[in-house]
Amino acid sequence: MTELLIRGRVLTFVDEPRDIADTNSYRYFEDGALLIADGRIIAMGEYSDVARIAGSETPVADHRPHLVLPGLIDAHIHFPQMQAVASYAAQLLEWLNTYTFVEEQKFADEQHAEFVAERFMDELLRHGTTTVAAYCSVHPQSVDAFFRAAQARNMCVIGGKVMMDRNAPPALCDTAQSGYDETKALIARWQGKGRLHYAITPRFAITSTPEQMEMSGALAREHPEAYIQTHLSENREEIALTRSLYPQAPDYTGIYEHYGLLGRKTLLGHCIHLSGREAKVLAETGAVAVFCPTSNLFLGSGLFDRDGLRAEGARIAVATDIGGGTSFSMLKTLDEAYKVLQLRGQRLSPLHSFYMMTLGNARALSLEDRIGTLEPGTEADVIVLNSRATPVMRMRMDVASTLTEELFLLQTTGDDRAVEQVYVAGKPMKEALGEGAGEKTPNR
Ligand code: GUN
Ligand code: ZN
Repeated sequence: MTELLIRGRVLTFVDEPRDIADTNSYRYFEDGALLIADGRIIAMGEYSDVARIAGSETPVADHRPHLVLPGLIDAHIHFPQMQAVASYAAQLLEWLNTYTFVEEQKFADEQHAEFVAERFMDELLRHGTTTVAAYCSVHPQSVDAFFRAAQARNMCVIGGKVMMDRNAPPALCDTAQSGYDETKALIARWQGKGRLHYAITPRFAITSTPEQMEMSGALAREHPEAYIQTHLSENREEIALTRSLYPQAPDYTGIYEHYGLLGRKTLLGHCIHLSGREAKVLAETGAVAVFCPTSNLFLGSGLFDRDGLRAEGARIAVATDIGGGTSFSMLKTLDEAYKVLQLRGQRLSPLHSFYMMTLGNARALSLEDRIGTLEPGTEADVIVLNSRATPVMRMRMDVASTLTEELFLLQTTGDDRAVEQVYVAGKPMKEALGEGAGEKTPNR
């Protein structure tokens, strides 16, 4: 059995914080430790206690004075949009047509897909993100590249082939039947292999015919083990076009509801402009509204109404939405979430932010028994954060006196520079990350 003792200031959430003073929502060990064996956490607590359980030969990774947290989780991201980040466009539909659909066509080329997948996974890890729910392109080979890159790093990821059979360039369109067949084959190849999970992925109602939506519903019924991911109510123009394409539906949510696509494993990107009825449907079905703040600001989509959705009982996750989103960093994402909620007159405490990036998103993905926490028995995806990573952070830390102050400055001023180390299933990854930024994309 390979053991490792990770020492540092250990912080993990046990429940959703009610407010900034809710000390019952987390466990914190100032001189804490985790004992890892064969990819799992087998003990967590005070260093002196955990060290006693460890074998005398067990190596110690001493990360004092840094924070030790669960790996961060990103509940909505587009792997083929890594090179579409920072594309100058008006709003969603223009951005999709002008840049995104052009970029995604390159993933017909297996080598390109593999090249990007490798750098995508490394970039996630460099930012402390150990799990994502990702959209691949329409091409099955992009899904293979995505899962292979995750598998090589032993990462727990969710991914799926986008299905779209209209309102996209012909090179990006499947058909209702081929989308169904390819999805079935990909589920057979990847679902449940190691730490990999499949998501049935009709991109959104605009790019799927009613026949494809029907087939997506069939896939969902035939594969209850798989996730479902799509986009919902992101942008006013998108909503108007969607309503015109599905005139019988009572509203946008009603389309997905009609085709049987809403349930506890459904992840709905954006959910900004929902009616009361739609929020209630989310709550009743257990579908998750995924808040993507950097994307919503970048594309001018609108301000997510977290409290409105919560009041109806809807489940909520948070995500980067690269490449509509502008940063791989979940810290920066929560920084922007804070500002969006400020504009809404809603509060986001740093405890709540760190909960959302870890246990909150794990719960939204129904994976809280495996990730998003440092509880013994869970898989050892762990990050180490340095709150003094930059001169600005050091200056601010010098006058911080509480844990919540520290978390807030990490969220507000931190990014990948704060990530000292990242463990995937107990294995330190930072040193092995490729020099992604230094290599040029082939044939570009
Ligand atoms: N709606 C449909 N596809 C997309 C996408 O790729 N990004 C965003 N932000 N919204 C979408
Ligand atoms: Zn998206």
